Amino acid sequence: MAGTGVFTDIIDGDIYKYYADGEWKKSSSGKSVSIVNPTTRKTHYRVQACTQEEVNKVMESAKIAQKSWAKTPLWKRAELLHKAAAILKEHKTPIAECLVKEIAKPAKDAVTEVVRSGDLISYTAEEGVRILGEGKFLVSDSFPGNERTKYCLTSKIPLGVILAIPPFNYPVNLAVSKIGPALIAGNSLVLKPPTQGAVAALHMVHCFHLAGFPKGLISCITGRGSEIGDFLTMHPLVNCISFTGGDTGVAISKKAGMIPLQMELGGKDACIILEDADIDLAASNIVKGGFSYSGQRCTAVKVVLVMESVADELVEKVKSKVGKLTVGSPEEDCDITPVVTESSANYIEGLVLDAKEKGATFCHEYKRDGNLIWPLLLDNVKPDMRIAWEEPFGPVVPVIRIKSVEEGIHHCNASNFGLQGCVFTKDINKAILISDAMETGTVQINSAPARGPDHFPFQGLKDSGIGSQGITNSINMMIKVKSIVINLPSPSYTMG
Ligand code: G3H
Repeated sequence: MAGTGVFTDIIDGDIYKYYADGEWKKSSSGKSVSIVNPTTRKTHYRVQACTQEEVNKVMESAKIAQKSWAKTPLWKRAELLHKAAAILKEHKTPIAECLVKEIAKPAKDAVTEVVRSGDLISYTAEEGVRILGEGKFLVSDSFPGNERTKYCLTSKIPLGVILAIPPFNYPVNLAVSKIGPALIAGNSLVLKPPTQGAVAALHMVHCFHLAGFPKGLISCITGRGSEIGDFLTMHPLVNCISFTGGDTGVAISKKAGMIPLQMELGGKDACIILEDADIDLAASNIVKGGFSYSGQRCTAVKVVLVMESVADELVEKVKSKVGKLTVGSPEEDCDITPVVTESSANYIEGLVLDAKEKGATFCHEYKRDGNLIWPLLLDNVKPDMRIAWEEPFGPVVPVIRIKSVEEGIHHCNASNFGLQGCVFTKDINKAILISDAMETGTVQINSAPARGPDHFPFQGLKDSGIGSQGITNSINMMIKVKSIVINLPSPSYTMG
């Protein structure tokens, strides 16, 4: 159970503590932030409302701890990460329970998130050992005008203090996808979890604590964005920000200083269905891609662009599958569970009502109870409807009937987003041409968009983000290359 057993240290009364200097602490603010359970819409947990002074202390400790961590042998860093991964997986049940209560993630998916996170940490440790131990050796005479008088040795050095800000929908997995690469590369890490998901994140951080990481190397600071948000992201001791979320990322990137940014900011993933597609396969992927975790994934299928000639068949099949989805509580592992906040539900409702007013065909009745929205397929959506362009981040999937593939590609590319997309066809040549034409970071052929497996490169074009993620890319993003040049008194050529 959350907050019990090995986790008793992380809670004081009914308020979870924050983590700094290797200890669990109460904020001097004396204030807390409530976490509302999306299902009951009542406060379920409370976390510390940390102060700017506490942020300063955390940053200073992170800076000091990083210096000695960078001197810790790579294999030892990897060993500790493997230990943390094992502890995390061992305690998957209480952590999954937090995910169920804080973000209404269906019970089985909540466990999967924790296990996937343990696997991600272990893979990161292994990949780090492989790629961080390698550098380059260059000689000067390949550049015009030079003799071979200079030998250049490059190595990979840490950036310093990494600020990690994960989103509510994967508060554990998208936190470790930043923590693992940061630590293996010799950086320290300050985590600011999302409010919904903070308690799951605090439990996850405790697994790193139990693994025995040095004091100050990892911190987890909770609180109100209005109080500490800008203060954290603009803090002079932060050397890199890795953020996943929505529009806040755009604001952060405008305010952040001259530091590397890794941003993943959502998507409007298009699913293009050609006339020769396997319609059953496409229908199952639309349901899985559009409705899993109630559509609250940046990689969810957010608009279906189907060729007119197969549209009736596709819509019929998707409609029937959507009708079979279970709707209810995350504890009962229903397919569709309440969306994260009342304001999210209101936003989704706004998109649905706009589509209704403008004449979309409702394949199911629109139904809402509190934060719970019944899954809904909207057919005959037109480009003048908001849902054709905006991300509902909820269980509503619009279908636009297209007359040509070019029309589909045009709609996909007219979006401000460019995260992922997918195309269904049996013709691999067409699939490649369409994939190349789609302005998105990834295109899936004959499958729904998805970030995983977690070592695949994952990136968004346009407003979907900055940089590339995936384990290897994240490690490489959190390092800098350092060159040492040996200058010889006279040219030296290796003789055959
Ligand atoms: O919500 C954003 C996530 O990066 C999506 O991850 O494709 O594994 O659900 P996922």
